[in-house]
Amino acid sequence: MALYAIGDLHLHYQSVLKAPGQLHDRVWKNHEEKFRKNCEKLLTDEDTLVLVGDHSWGKKLAECETDLQYIRDLPGRKILTRGNHDMFWDAKKTGQLNAMFQPELTFLQDSYESYRDYALVGTKGFTFEGPFYLDRRGRIAGWDEEAEIRARKLVKRELERLRKSFELAKADGFRKYIMFLHYPPTNILEELAKGPEARRSGFIDMAEEYGAEQVIYAHCHGESRFHDSIHGEYRGRTYHLVSGDFLRWKPLKILD
Ligand SMILES: [Fe+2]
Ligand SMILES: [Fe+2]
Repeated sequence: MALYAIGDLHLHYQSVLKAPGQLHDRVWKNHEEKFRKNCEKLLTDEDTLVLVGDHSWGKKLAECETDLQYIRDLPGRKILTRGNHDMFWDAKKTGQLNAMFQPELTFLQDSYESYRDYALVGTKGFTFEGPFYLDRRGRIAGWDEEAEIRARKLVKRELERLRKSFELAKADGFRKYIMFLHYPPTNILEELAKGPEARRSGFIDMAEEYGAEQVIYAHCHGESRFHDSIHGEYRGRTYHLVSGDFLRWKPLKILD
């Protein structure tokens, strides 16, 4: 029995592919087949696979049915969290999705799931991604301040959702947590900041407050984005990027 994670499958069996590079890129070409084969090799039905968002390019549920069926057919118990492209999934209507797809798929939103004595908590998260203005040397010299104010509001809302997930698990007696986000836990400015405030964000603070052992995130795909945020040990917990192309479509084992 093991816990695995991956994100950013960006399936498009029934929808318009908005990243045509997916069809030709060496890593992305036939990624559905590569991923399915890796899952069949690695996972058994005793295992749990957490898919951390950007499941489908489909905008409506009717455009995602084959994509969700593909996920349903993978071995093991599947838990899904939301990504920024998952337009088919209205957070407020998560109950309806669970009624339709459980027990094969569980849509995690404002809730938690258990794995052994761990609570799997999470939310989509949010990260300010610019626009940034660069100087002649390519260094960040400024950014769209209105966009940053909007981003702060989204971060605040996502932190409230994340806290709800932690609190529900805590109220049920859980003390060990694995935290899942779609967006990276820090943005570029937080990564570049110097001094004691470097690499701080509300998401990192919350992981530390509740003592999450691992923080799992995706969203950063394409090689230029792989190092946007934290990898490995940092202040007592472990951070893992699990975007599918970064993992070359091999789900990452999080726990035995
Ligand atoms: Fe993505
Ligand atoms: Fe994303």
